[in-house]
Amino acid sequence: MDKIVIKGGNPLFGDVHVSGAKNAALPVLASALLTSGENTFHNIPDLVDIKTIKKLLISMGVQIEGNETCKVSAEKITSCDAPYDLVKTMRASILVLGPLVARMGVARVSLPGGCAIGARPVNLHIKALQDMGAHVELHNGYIEAKAKRLKGADIYFDIQTVTGTENIMMAATLAHGTTVLNNAAREPEIVNLAEVLKSMGAKISGAGTDVITITGVTSLQPVEATIIPDRIEAGTFMIAAGMTRGEINVMGCNPQHLEALINKLRDTGMKITAIAGGLKVSAGKKIHSVDLKTLPHPGFPTDLQAQMMAYLSIASGLSVIAETVFENRFMHVSELMRMGADILIQGGSAVVRGVPALHGAQTMATDLRASASLILAALVAEGTTEISRVYHIDRGYQGIEKKFSALGADIKRMAQ
Ligand code: UD1
Repeated sequence: MDKIVIKGGNPLFGDVHVSGAKNAALPVLASALLTSGENTFHNIPDLVDIKTIKKLLISMGVQIEGNETCKVSAEKITSCDAPYDLVKTMRASILVLGPLVARMGVARVSLPGGCAIGARPVNLHIKALQDMGAHVELHNGYIEAKAKRLKGADIYFDIQTVTGTENIMMAATLAHGTTVLNNAAREPEIVNLAEVLKSMGAKISGAGTDVITITGVTSLQPVEATIIPDRIEAGTFMIAAGMTRGEINVMGCNPQHLEALINKLRDTGMKITAIAGGLKVSAGKKIHSVDLKTLPHPGFPTDLQAQMMAYLSIASGLSVIAETVFENRFMHVSELMRMGADILIQGGSAVVRGVPALHGAQTMATDLRASASLILAALVAEGTTEISRVYHIDRGYQGIEKKFSALGADIKRMAQ
């Protein structure tokens, strides 16, 4: 198992190029199950989670070639099973449920179970499929869903769910009649998926708003499509610029996807300007404390909460961070405190008192975004920090040590 070793103190300068969005690539790859010809997807990031979904699709008989440009052909589906071993390593495996029921009339997908950031149930995915006429049973930890042909329905999501919206949007493309998703999630990755489905021939309107209407068709055609840039990766580098007192050009990002973060970072004193092909991001004279609350898009993304907490741990003054999307997403707090941060958790909020400096320590990554926050903290800490369990970061950041190293960080990956 690898560890990352960082000697803190170098301000970061230069250009970094953002990879394709993990959370868009995952549903887009799953959407290939809806068509029987060869799809070509560009800008697929090289990540462990992408390898996991490819493995899952291949186990179902899907043919896949290539990496950044990926050809995916689901001519024949030989298995409609998503086994526990794959689903437990990546909850997003649930994204095969909707397409399989829609195309094959049957799916058997392991229930994901708990994870480090909370219970994360999939009850809303299941309820929506039942509303569309599927017969769903839970057996031995598996969701078993059957439907000759799904029927269009009015769906009300109690909570905005990203993969729930994607799963049911995919299922509805081949259903009989019209499906309306009310209180749908509005993330840019959902819009990317909807555009891909539309070019396959799906009839979808309203993606990007909280009401999405899908009128089912009898079949979809294969497509050539491109994945949007990863806004969470872009945001992590933007925060790194402010935190290390540097100046970074974050190239290839879409500023419209980053508005909540841009506003918050400006409030902390950072300068952010649009340049051709990206954003120029510079540290301010001082890091001002700010309060923030995570919310579904277009609110502040929960996937940047941990990184923002690392940043605010060296701000002047007191910041309150409220996490409202997941109930247990403060696993990084104890590790940041081992590096000298002063953070108090009160219910769903963290009170962060800025300290003048963080100190290097031995730390452990607990989940994907928590590990990004430890890297950021380590980049400014006095001395050396070791981060173990790096596999968490490889799930969602492509070549992270190479990208930070090219910006001037003293960062190495070492075998443990
Ligand atoms: C997706 C993202 C993840 C991000 C999250 C929130 C992917 C692959 N992952 O995860 O990076 O952190 O959105 O932006 O895109 N919920 C239920 N019942 C359900 C479904 C969800 O109660 O059936 C709850 C969850 O426990 C959570 C909230 O709804 O509290 C939002 O979760 P959701 O949007 O579904 O997260 P994911 O799609 O799993």
